[in-house]
Amino acid sequence: TKIAPDMSRIIYVRNLPFKITDDELYDIFGKYGAVRQIRKGNTDKTRGSAFVVYEDVLDARAAVDQLSGFNVAGRYLIVLYYNPQKAAQRQQMLAQKEELERIRQSYQKKSGA
Ligand code: ADE
Repeated sequence: TKIAPDMSRIIYVRNLPFKITDDELYDIFGKYGAVRQIRKGNTDKTRGSAFVVYEDVLDARAAVDQLSGFNVAGRYLIVLYYNPQKAAQRQQMLAQKEELERIRQSYQKKSGA
């Protein structure tokens, strides 16, 4: 089977219900093969997303192909391959936002606004 260059054993999932449990995640993603690890977003910015690491890249592909648009508690899952560039971009954007917020608060204190 041909393996596309963007394929990974890790998938990035968005639009999960905030209250989904680890057991439910393993039920959903374990259908496509052995899951090594699931990391659920647990901050305000990352809640509703998760990284799922499969043992086998072909299982990750099956999950991307078959779970994209899957309905969980009325929400439609977005399932992508893990993309390190996008992960880094996202991290950078969040860090910039935090830095801006720090500057804003420091300015407010100094100006008494
Ligand atoms: N952030 C946004 N898209 C991403 C992806 N495909 N993989 C990892 N982090 C992401």
